[in-house]
Amino acid sequence: MTVHAIRTPNPEEPLRTERELAAMAAELAGTKVALTVRPPASGVVEALRDQIRAGGDPLGEAFSRIRTPRERRDQGATYTPPAIVDNMLAWTARHKSPARVVDPGAGSGRFILAAGQRFPEAALVAVETDPLAILLLRANAEVRGLAGRLKIEETDYRDLSLPAIDGPTLFVGNPPYVRHHRIDADRKNWFANTAAKHGLRASKLAGLHIHFFLKSLELVQPGDYGAFITAAEWLDVNYGSVLREALANGLGGLEVHLLSPRAAPFPDALTSAAITCWEAGHHGSSLAIRTIEGPDQLDELRSRRSVPWSTLGRAQRWSTVIRPRGRREGGVIELGEICRVHRGQVTGNNGVWVAGRIRGGSAARGSLSRDHARS
Ligand SMILES: C[S@@+](CC[C@H](N)C(=O)[O-])C[C@H]1O[C@@H](n2cnc3c(N)ncnc32)[C@H](O)[C@@H]1O
Repeated sequence: MTVHAIRTPNPEEPLRTERELAAMAAELAGTKVALTVRPPASGVVEALRDQIRAGGDPLGEAFSRIRTPRERRDQGATYTPPAIVDNMLAWTARHKSPARVVDPGAGSGRFILAAGQRFPEAALVAVETDPLAILLLRANAEVRGLAGRLKIEETDYRDLSLPAIDGPTLFVGNPPYVRHHRIDADRKNWFANTAAKHGLRASKLAGLHIHFFLKSLELVQPGDYGAFITAAEWLDVNYGSVLREALANGLGGLEVHLLSPRAAPFPDALTSAAITCWEAGHHGSSLAIRTIEGPDQLDELRSRRSVPWSTLGRAQRWSTVIRPRGRREGGVIELGEICRVHRGQVTGNNGVWVAGRIRGGSAARGSLSRDHARS
């Protein structure tokens, strides 16, 4: 008797290289690309379609697996886990319904496509520079039946112009985290000039995520609103003051939810993150704030306390105001009270921080540099 093994299609099987991923995305998007790859096993394309229709992002997962964190660093491409996307969009829906949604740095479309389903009347604009990510986004939009409503702007977000519309625009997403060392002089000049136009003090040390906030300030009309998840360092560092000032003024800061590294917001980066919610032109007396210490607290972005803008205006660093002070034994002074504690250094000479037996070992260097991915 001959026994035939029945193979369940494994959607990941044909997605081992960027070429295979691009060919599959083109197939799902119904577009043509001139790539020669092995045809996938029968059933694989349908299995992927089913996953995407159910709200999954197998193409984005394959992208993050095929391109290492180091290779993705220049574009700041770290895709957002669904729980964060869902909770941020739940916040935006509670706030108001948008007539248009803009996702700056859309990647494979996790935010913009979930927003498309949550806000069925809204026009959708995705801004992205990476051609492969754009192909994944097209495939996901096509399979989820949202391609007809989606405009993909294949441009640097800082060059985007938006036509005026009736009704509020929602800006939502995860702006790329790229440090200033990788930002060219022209863009730094753009940043300084744009900040000056808004009466803000800018530092050329600001990273790309801060540029995205400033560009959003350029684009907004009163009543437009936004929710961005970014690295949280801007709460404390000098170059973050431009964003702190923007939130206190034209950008209209509403809430900041600070996710500690223990909340593990991003599986491939040990870092804290901040979800910043704002409404252009809003002038409240206080900013609502909250710290999230574990993944179980990443429920809807609800409970919070308020800190008056007058207190924040006097604070050198915001994280000390935001974090609730734990009880401390008498006579104990936290290190952070006398000096600023950083988790990463960008000297590249990390060996200097490693003492003892493991000094010089590649494992120690590897774990340090992984931490730098978003620190
Ligand atoms: C942190 S990822 C977020 C992707 C997606 N929004 C998500 O949350 O899963 C940032 C994205 O911004 C894109 N990007 C980087 N620089 C950009 C720029 N100057 N203008 C537009 N997009 C950019 C990257 O290619 C990447 O896809």
